[in-house]
Amino acid sequence: MELTFEKYKEAAEFLLERAGFQPEIGIILGSGLGHFAEEIENPVEVRYEEIPNFLRSTVEGHAGKMVFGTVSGRKVACMSGRFHYYEGYDFEELSLPIRVFKLLGVKCCILTNAAGAVNIHYEVGDIMIIRDHIKLMGGSPMRGKNIDEFGERFFDMTRAYTPELREVAKRCAKKTELNIHEGVYFYMPGPQFETPAEIKAICILGGDAVGMSTVTETITAAHCNLPVLALSVMTNMAAGVLPKPVSGAEVVEIANSIEKPFTLYVKDIIKNIPLEKM
Ligand code: HPA
Repeated sequence: MELTFEKYKEAAEFLLERAGFQPEIGIILGSGLGHFAEEIENPVEVRYEEIPNFLRSTVEGHAGKMVFGTVSGRKVACMSGRFHYYEGYDFEELSLPIRVFKLLGVKCCILTNAAGAVNIHYEVGDIMIIRDHIKLMGGSPMRGKNIDEFGERFFDMTRAYTPELREVAKRCAKKTELNIHEGVYFYMPGPQFETPAEIKAICILGGDAVGMSTVTETITAAHCNLPVLALSVMTNMAAGVLPKPVSGAEVVEIANSIEKPFTLYVKDIIKNIPLEKM
């Protein structure tokens, strides 16, 4: 499917009609972090397969619905279930969620994910506020004909992980029982976890955590000038850091186990985002 401006618009118009209001914040929940969606007040749920031109979620632990409602007094659109390159989508198709958020009128996005900790000073269950990312592999979601309505052909990435939002997350960190770090997310396409040699290389290159999502969304957001806050949950130490294999079941189990404090932390951030300045 060629994604034209009209195709994104059709999806957004359908969602606005179903939601009945314009959301202020777009949220994407990562693996095992879907419980946050249950905190949304007065929810209006739309399954992905109902949305024109949208993608389908194929991963276990990802529900596959967009939930509209209120969190901490803010109007949100929350995707419970995200799309990844390893599911078979092209990088270009992975632009859909964020561009639809943009057309819904959100002022900023919060992206969450599960990640492996590369930095040995991090522990399982810690959170990393993403300061920057490294993506050396493959194409870009912005490859192909530029859609000028969203942004320019060449665009800046130095403020992609919006400093003002990171400051809010750091201030809120003082009120949570979770250990909060700030670091660099290294993108790997998956679905295989990394080899120990790859993790060693990632460490040398400056990655603090490794994961298979989020960067396509952040690149798309930077193109259309949408502020982003991205949070990684350290669900495991990356391959080779500990003398044991990495498992998908462990990723979901750990993500589920910190769901309560993580939800409180994200709700506090949402309350404190200066939307009027975004
Ligand atoms: N590697 C890549 N992606 C991940 C990991 C990991 O160790 N843990 C959770 N998502």
